[in-house]
Amino acid sequence: MWIKHLQLNHFRNYATAEIDLHPVLNIFVGDNAQGKTNLLEAMYILAVSKSYRTSREGELIRHSQPSTKVYGRIQRNADVDLAVIVSHDSPKRLFVNHKATTSNRFVGVLNVVLFTPDSLQLIKGSPGERRRLLDILICQVDAIYRSNLLKYQRVVRQRNQLLKNAGADRSALKQLPAWDGQLADLASRIMFRRQAVVKSLSMQAAAVHARLTGGREDLSIAYVPFSGPSLDTGEETLEGFHNIMLEQLRKERFLEIQRGYTLVGPHRDDLAFSIDGKDAKTYGSQGQQRTAVLAYKLAEMELMRSETGEYPVVLLDDVMSELDRARRKFLVEILNTKAQTIITTTHLGSFTEDILANASIFRIEAGTIAERGNGDVFAPR
Ligand SMILES: Nc1ncnc2c1ncn2[C@@H]1O[C@H](COP(=O)(O)OP(=O)(O)O)[C@@H](O)[C@H]1O
Ligand SMILES: [Mg+2]
Repeated sequence: MWIKHLQLNHFRNYATAEIDLHPVLNIFVGDNAQGKTNLLEAMYILAVSKSYRTSREGELIRHSQPSTKVYGRIQRNADVDLAVIVSHDSPKRLFVNHKATTSNRFVGVLNVVLFTPDSLQLIKGSPGERRRLLDILICQVDAIYRSNLLKYQRVVRQRNQLLKNAGADRSALKQLPAWDGQLADLASRIMFRRQAVVKSLSMQAAAVHARLTGGREDLSIAYVPFSGPSLDTGEETLEGFHNIMLEQLRKERFLEIQRGYTLVGPHRDDLAFSIDGKDAKTYGSQGQQRTAVLAYKLAEMELMRSETGEYPVVLLDDVMSELDRARRKFLVEILNTKAQTIITTTHLGSFTEDILANASIFRIEAGTIAERGNGDVFAPR
């Protein structure tokens, strides 16, 4: 799949912008604070329905404007038109082929893999950050997972309320078994899917990582359920996860009532990255962590392709300058043969003439985008 056409209206620092994209490689070059990340953010929103930079969506609207619209034409089997409208005074609206639709129908038409300097949080960040990134990946390719996850989050909130009320009124606890049933049912589906996805990501990432390190280092990514790896049943079945949930709920019941919130469930899962068997967060060098994240991102791309039959669009925000020449070359070579790629950079010096000759190159300046054609020779900035 690829993004053929993109239109922004009052989006962040853009008044209006309209571009036709290259099916393979697009490079956006510009100084700091000109609108490069804003542009990738807009594409990301077309895929995920919300921003990765802010949860206050009003920030997306250009200052002193009432609303913003992002529109994209996506080529899959057929062309699909996607649009998102965010207004200060009404709820967000999502459109597929010009018809208003739900987020569950909207998300997944366009798939993206996002790689930014911040992606390092996948290793360095909190478990919550890792869960969030994993969920965004799975939600893009699995609408049922997405709907289960939303239901699960609602059940946790309501169950928390109940546990809190039980502090003052013990009779509220009579309702607990019904909530536990729902919680265990949704939780086990989420856990089952997560472990399968992580297993496949780990295999793909290990293969890429071996190529990146010349086979010298060994990356593995493990799903760590909230109950800890020690509770691993050996056969990770839906029923197995269901049993883990029920068992843990029994075990933690007293503590949950005492604390007044839900302690048990996949809202406390994590992922563990290890290099040569050692925890990458604690022992990995910055360079090792970067390589692991790069491998993970390429694994995400392969996972999406195996789930949907098509490669996602790859968004690379300012990451080229952080990679050494060999990794840069490796990355561009893989992407050139597989996915549409959108790259932002402050200077074209990180790219060989070869790469530039086969890309569409755009210059971004103060919220305007000018296409520079492809194959131009640029004086280094
Ligand atoms: N809602 C908004 N309205 C107008 N300008 C905005 C808005 N949000 C962000 N900006 C501006 O966008 C610019 C940053 O753009 P960004 O895409 O992050 O830059 P970069 O090219 O460095 O990636 C800043 O100048 C910021 O003030
Ligand atoms: Mg930026």
